[in-house]
Amino acid sequence: MAEYVHVARLDELPPGERLVVEIRRRWVAIFNVDGQLYAIEDRCTHDDGPLAEGELKGCEIICPRHGARFDIRDGTVLSAPALVNVPSYEIRVVGEDIQIKSG
Ligand code: FES
Repeated sequence: MAEYVHVARLDELPPGERLVVEIRRRWVAIFNVDGQLYAIEDRCTHDDGPLAEGELKGCEIICPRHGARFDIRDGTVLSAPALVNVPSYEIRVVGEDIQIKSG
């Protein structure tokens, strides 16, 4: 059953920053863009590139391996060589805790 799990404290992810956390054997990249939080799997669908290490332009992350682009708001692939969306996760803040829906 899907449930929210604690992944970090809010003060660990200030605006402009990103974190990589492990949730149930998956690496998830979480981003704070101007106070809005987003979470996607930290694995490019082209060839497993570590997306959190890529350049972020607005809400667009550029894979550091071969340059595919994804929208971090929902994981939509925006440019080749990747052709498949990356999974995204619901994320919420409860008090000072950042939580991601996992299931
Ligand atoms: S691994 Fe990301 S573009 Fe190739």
